Amino acid sequence: MRFAVFSDIHSNLEGLQAVLDEAERLEVDALLCCGDIVGYNADPNACVELVRSKGVRCIQGNHERGLRELDEGVEPNMNPVAMEALLFTSETLNGDNRDWLLSLPEELAVEDSFYLFHGSPADPDEYIFDAFEAAYAFKSLAFEHAPPANLFCFIGHTHICAAYVFDPENHRVADAAVDNGDRYGMKPGVHFMFNVGSCGQYRGGIPIASMCIADNESLTIEFRFLQYDFESTQKKILAAGLPPFLAQRLSMGQ
Ligand SMILES: [Fe+2]
Repeated sequence: MRFAVFSDIHSNLEGLQAVLDEAERLEVDALLCCGDIVGYNADPNACVELVRSKGVRCIQGNHERGLRELDEGVEPNMNPVAMEALLFTSETLNGDNRDWLLSLPEELAVEDSFYLFHGSPADPDEYIFDAFEAAYAFKSLAFEHAPPANLFCFIGHTHICAAYVFDPENHRVADAAVDNGDRYGMKPGVHFMFNVGSCGQYRGGIPIASMCIADNESLTIEFRFLQYDFESTQKKILAAGLPPFLAQRLSMGQ
C-alpha cells in the first residue's frame, strides 16, 4: 500500500488542501496524520470536516490535548500566542468536531507495518531536533513497541522535516535534513524515524506544506514540499482576530 503521511495541519485549510490534492494526484491508498489538526490558524471546523470526510486516520497532538485540558480546568503548557489560538479554536469548534478530536488515540500502529506518533515514540510532547534527542526516542521505538511495526515510524510536532536512522548492531544514530523529493529505502533490522514536518505551519524557513509518501511493500519513503496559497490563510487569520504574528510566520516559514 502507498500512504500519504502528513502532520500539524493546525487549521490551515489551504495547506491541507494542497496535501490532499497531491495525494489524490499520486493515487495513494490511504491518508495518515500525526496530530495537531487544529490550533494556530483560522479554519478548525473546515479542516476537521475535510479530514473526516476523506477518512484520514489521525492521532491527537498536544493542541487536541489542550482542548481536553481546558475542559478539565487544567492550564495547557503553551506560549501566550498558542494559548490565544487554542481559546479561539475551543470557541469556534462545533460539538461534533470537538468530540471527534478528543476521541483520537495518542499513537497508532498502521497495518502492522509502522507507527504514528506526535512528538516522539517516547512522549507526545517531546521535540526531536537532532540525533542526540532521537537516540532516546529510538530506545522506546525499538524496545517498547511491537515488531514488525517498530521498524519505522512517522512523527511531527517540530514542524520541520527530518530523517533519523538507528542501526541497533552498531548502536549508531544518524540524522539528516531532508529536501523536496528526497527518498529513503529501508534496510532490514535498521530502525527509521521520519518527521513529516507540517502542512499548516512549516518552520524550516520556507512557506510550504510538507508531506511524505510511504510504500510499505517496497519500503520506500519520499518527501514532498508543496507550494500553497498561504496569503489566503494569512488573510483569514487577521480577519478572525488571531495574533498577527501567526499570519507573519507563515510567509517566513517559521
Ligand atoms: Fe504542532
